[in-house]
Amino acid sequence: MLCPLRQASLRAAFARQSYQQQHHHHHHHQARLVLTLAADRLAAATAPLPSAHHHHLANAPAPLRPTSAPGSPLRAMASASSGGGAAAAAPKPPRALVHDKPGEPLDALELRNLPLLRECGPGEIQLRFLQSPINPSDVNTVQGKYPIQPQLPGAVPGHEGVAEVVAVGSEVSRLSPGDWVVPLAPAQGTWRSAGTFAAADWHRVPRDIGLEAAATLVINPPTALAMLENFVELQPGDTVAQNGATSAVGEAVIQIARAKGLRTVNLVRNRPDLAATVSRLKALGADLVTTEERLKDDLKASGLPAPLLGLNCVGGSAAQAVTRILQDGGTLVTYGGMSMQPVTASTAAMIFKDISFRGFWLTGRWSKAQGPAGRAAAMDRIVDMYRAGALQPPAVRTFALGRWREAFAALAAPHRGHKVALAPSAEEEEDEGRG
Ligand SMILES: NC(=O)c1ccc[n+]([C@@H]2O[C@H](COP(=O)([O-])OP(=O)(O)OC[C@H]3O[C@@H](n4cnc5c(N)ncnc54)[C@H](OP(=O)(O)O)[C@@H]3O)[C@@H](O)[C@H]2O)c1
Repeated sequence: MLCPLRQASLRAAFARQSYQQQHHHHHHHQARLVLTLAADRLAAATAPLPSAHHHHLANAPAPLRPTSAPGSPLRAMASASSGGGAAAAAPKPPRALVHDKPGEPLDALELRNLPLLRECGPGEIQLRFLQSPINPSDVNTVQGKYPIQPQLPGAVPGHEGVAEVVAVGSEVSRLSPGDWVVPLAPAQGTWRSAGTFAAADWHRVPRDIGLEAAATLVINPPTALAMLENFVELQPGDTVAQNGATSAVGEAVIQIARAKGLRTVNLVRNRPDLAATVSRLKALGADLVTTEERLKDDLKASGLPAPLLGLNCVGGSAAQAVTRILQDGGTLVTYGGMSMQPVTASTAAMIFKDISFRGFWLTGRWSKAQGPAGRAAAMDRIVDMYRAGALQPPAVRTFALGRWREAFAALAAPHRGHKVALAPSAEEEEDEGRG
């Protein structure tokens, strides 16, 4: 039952600790898909909250709160080593961003020490987190506006990330220490340096795809792939239109569409560096990149056929702009609401073109329909695309956990052009690099 350990220093860390909290939370998360969701809540659920990110940036970092009880192994080892001279360094407790109440991330989150890792049970693995993105749905989860409710108090957010397997339980044959894994189930809590988890909830990814690709594998590329395949039967040469084209999903849509021989019409917000953004997206395979104002003229000039499928993660006028250029009988799929504006359907689009308005939710309906095997298969298809050179990962800017407030500040910047991720097991000195 003992985990085969790679690192002697970790052996000491496995002093028995119940760590029930984490385990308990883990199972509850799975069962807590709340599927009854009012329409107005959904719009908010996929958009970041606006100005909140700017608060309290000057605040000192939250204090670390050791959560070990008096007399626990953590205390015992800490005091043993403090008087122990040449004894091995005391194991470091894992650290995590934690929240007890819903709220804006800068107000609600705190960096805390967690109890020392407990030993792996037979079907468990111990993980060290390498890179854990901050996605819009993570922010909404902390705010209490995502339909997958965290178990409060003491929730560790983070639906996505890549971790290295450090140890495996006696019945785990699929994974070995050193493997990289990504979560197959939401709400595992990736904003932590290390943890013990059920092996069944994690999927191995090859290291050769690189850290950024692995860290961002679970949510956005499968969303792009599923939206291109599940709504409209598209043939090579057909056109897909989207807004929010600079998003991680948007960049994956451009690349996967190109690999399928589809053409893309891409809307971006007007910005100071528009020409640079246009060339970046074109280099990924975009056929047309333009703004709302110029869309109609640019589409006409491009000679591209009218799109059959439109993808909307913005709402408001950007959703109308995409709807307006769809072919008769076309479909608009809404999957996000970054502008916080509702999706309004023009009367003409409905009467004269019979446009269908649909919605996509990866973590909810799609995941449920796929089951773990289908989700793993989708991840493997994305891995194959990376290995074939059809996909490039998004740019990722990483922050050590101690710099989490700076990470949220970076997240709030418009036109940032990269994902923001935590590097949860990085030492503070290694801070802030490109993954
Ligand atoms: N339904 C699902 O299953 C599902 C799955 C994955 C993602 N999503 C949703 O997809 C969207 C994109 O996620 P992501 O992780 O790919 O995003 P991301 O990489 O963090 O990029 C954010 C995108 O939102 C745009 N944006 C931000 N604020 C905006 C505003 N006020 N008006 C218009 N555009 C704005 C940004 O444009 P600039 O470059 O101009 O700043 C950028 O394109 C989010 O709404 C997310 O919740 C949904």
